[in-house]
Amino acid sequence: MSELELKVLFTREQIARRVAEMGEQITRDFTGQPVILLGVLKGASIFLSDLARAIHLDATFDFLAVSSYNNHSQTSGEVRLTKDVDESMEDRNVLLVEDILDTGLTMAYLSKVLLAHQPRALRTVALLDKPARRVKPVRADYVGFEILDQFVVGYGMDHAERYRNLPDIRILPKHIL
Ligand code: IMP
Ligand code: MG
Repeated sequence: MSELELKVLFTREQIARRVAEMGEQITRDFTGQPVILLGVLKGASIFLSDLARAIHLDATFDFLAVSSYNNHSQTSGEVRLTKDVDESMEDRNVLLVEDILDTGLTMAYLSKVLLAHQPRALRTVALLDKPARRVKPVRADYVGFEILDQFVVGYGMDHAERYRNLPDIRILPKHIL
């Protein structure tokens, strides 16, 4: 489907305003402390790039990747790390950056893995949150927007690896899924 046929949920301007606010909040909360922005590939890459430039702190980047055997309609609950962190997280202020918090399985799994590294602080950041879909009782410390149970693409988020490069966040109609 062409991007122009997909309804816009958040425009690039709305996203930019909210990301700026999130960056200000994080900057205030960690004043004077270094942070590590830990992005979950690939969906969080564009969000992390913009958020990082709204955070005025001594910051470094790291990335990890997971594969899950769940899709939108079916949840097996299995999450597996396919790329681990490059740096040690021990005694660091870690901001785990996710595109979207859906069932919560990914974030619950990653929080458990990261806490075993004994960071100084672990905070979770999700641009989007779909609370209606939650299976695990997790919440993010910083949320951009809460959304309904809709499948969205753009601004890093994909469907079968497509649409990540759309500048706005758009809704993929149910019959496509
Ligand atoms: P969770 O483990 O179910 O919370 O899923 C988290 C991951 O599923 C996200 O990081 C996304 O990669 C993917 N995901 C969930 N909902 C959507 C969506 O609406 N659009 C694109 N990806 C999604
Ligand atoms: Mg993802």
